[in-house]
Amino acid sequence: MKKLEMLRQGINDLDERLVGILEERMKLALEIADFKQQNGMAIYDAKREQEILRDRMERYEGLLSPKQWAEFFEMIFRISKALQYERMARKNLILIGFMGTGKTSVGRYLADRKGAVHIDLDARIEEESGVSVAEIFEQQGERAFRQIETQVLQEVYEQIRSDIEKADRKGYILSCGGGSVLDPANVDLLRTMGSIVWLTASPKSVYERLASTSDRPLLRHRKSMESIAKLMQQRESVYEKVRADLVIDTSDQSIEAVGEKILKAMSERMPHFLSPAQKK
Ligand code: S3P
Repeated sequence: MKKLEMLRQGINDLDERLVGILEERMKLALEIADFKQQNGMAIYDAKREQEILRDRMERYEGLLSPKQWAEFFEMIFRISKALQYERMARKNLILIGFMGTGKTSVGRYLADRKGAVHIDLDARIEEESGVSVAEIFEQQGERAFRQIETQVLQEVYEQIRSDIEKADRKGYILSCGGGSVLDPANVDLLRTMGSIVWLTASPKSVYERLASTSDRPLLRHRKSMESIAKLMQQRESVYEKVRADLVIDTSDQSIEAVGEKILKAMSERMPHFLSPAQKK
């Protein structure tokens, strides 16, 4: 038994080294992602992948079968590309937060200001389904709306991902519906699509902004400051769990002021934030 324990300890030690080496490899892959982003190059390079595979299979012949080497490296490529996509997507901005915190208006402002593409999730849902969000709630209920919301979010994800794949240089600003982060799977997806900014506001500000509107089904029969505060309270922990990259209180602030604050904070963290790459 002592022997087995010793052998296992040896494996544990080796795994530790393996993790260290994997970490170094992934770091290099991320540096390559930054280089490719700055030079408008696509992540996926079929020729390079083939070269690596052929080279490793030839040089390390014997230890593993060619099929096993192929499996091993394909897994490494897959993980590496996923990290690279995420890294490149950080320049996109995802706006989340309660109804009436300015996600749509600020998103539009930022897109204008930076020449980025603005996608409003609710507007996309309405475009695709041909009816308003309020009508979907009324005719099919909230559960059905959430399913449509997740499906449309998935489509937006595919769109952003395929742009990165093609080395398309445009940046995206995505304004989400207030409840789109209720589903943790949506949150996981959003994290891979860009940097997340959580817009907050006091119940009073939200009430004042939404007082004259009638397109929020969740507030339809209870539009008062008290019910807004209550729903906001219920949602607080949901937004907190997202662990946004930035939180901005929009109470009593203009769209422009909020937009500029976001730009300042984000570009301090990322020098190339939302700026298109130079052409190669
Ligand atoms: C909702 C927010 C709305 C819209 C729907 C549900 C919510 O979007 O998606 O009415 O659950 O908070 P806005 O936050 O853009 O108002």
